[in-house]
Amino acid sequence: MWWFVIRTVPVTVNAQELNVHEGVSVEQLLEDNDAFGVTAGNLVSVGGNVITEGGGARATVSVNGEEVPADQFAQRGLMSGDELEVSDGTDVQEEYEESVESLAPGLQTDGTGAIQFVSQWGQAGEKKVWTGKQSEEKVDKEVTKEPVDMVISYINPKPKDGNKYLALTFDDGPSKYTGQILDILKEKGVHATFYNLGQNAEANAALCKRVVDEGHEMASHTNQHMNLPNESRDSLRNEISSAADRIEQASGFRPQMIRAPYGAFTTTEWARSADLISCNVLWNIDTLDWKRPGADAIKQEVLSNAYNGAIALMHDGGGDRTQDIEALPGIIDGLKEAGYKLVTVKELMKLDGRFPDDVINGTVKVPEGAVMPEA
Ligand code: NI
Repeated sequence: MWWFVIRTVPVTVNAQELNVHEGVSVEQLLEDNDAFGVTAGNLVSVGGNVITEGGGARATVSVNGEEVPADQFAQRGLMSGDELEVSDGTDVQEEYEESVESLAPGLQTDGTGAIQFVSQWGQAGEKKVWTGKQSEEKVDKEVTKEPVDMVISYINPKPKDGNKYLALTFDDGPSKYTGQILDILKEKGVHATFYNLGQNAEANAALCKRVVDEGHEMASHTNQHMNLPNESRDSLRNEISSAADRIEQASGFRPQMIRAPYGAFTTTEWARSADLISCNVLWNIDTLDWKRPGADAIKQEVLSNAYNGAIALMHDGGGDRTQDIEALPGIIDGLKEAGYKLVTVKELMKLDGRFPDDVINGTVKVPEGAVMPEA
């Protein structure tokens, strides 16, 4: 069978001559020569971890300067004079499934000031995710749609019509002192803003209703005066919602405006409850009335720090408020003498001109398609 004689031909491998059967495949050559001592690559996961050591390409091979893809080693035959370079094999990545997942918006703050509100709602983005078929690892690939961050603006109201305005605010009520405070406000013909606790509104429903009926602004100080950053998401939301429920039940008015107890309301609390509130209102003048420094000290604190647009913090509940009651007529008279008009926080916002109508009116609705940041 002389016509079956197989010819051997010379080739070079890494510059060394070698005789091989004419037409032998690259794969066979590697197998017959223990891959010339090179190291195979690994099979790696989508996350870059080794799944199988040596499970990648057996070797990297080029013939006459052109690399032969590993999946063509079996087909590629060698001819006389071919020059081969054989080096370590490369890693091969496992197969994966690509999916599209939504990307939560972040949260930014803008400015400084006593009144905080959502000035821009967040929108979800999209990202490609690879899931390894063997490793089941999930890896974020490119962001195909950038999320739009939620923005909380902080503003100190600044009425600009040439008049001077100031808002008196009372926290922690209603309590047995609230009636006398309402009497003084009525007698002086001015309106204030009350941040009622839900539990107190329930216990003093008639006073809560009187606040609203006499034209004051009713707002929420949450239900039980907890330090909200210490609370879970559910507890925080319950503190806000149950207070609104109780105040509504007592007064007929459902407040969206809150003042967080201790003023403690971080971006985390915003991300967790922005759909429940219109704004969180802090203060510019702290009377420190809770320390009971004397009626005159409380009065002086307001009068000597008053400025156009200021929000002053007092209390109608949470302790002995006789000093507040004693100080209040002098505070109102002194402010009037200094040219101030006493208004509610809502009116301050309206006079400022930068607050959205739904924030001013406490009618904020989360726009369709808006997405909350993760928190
Ligand atoms: Ni308080």
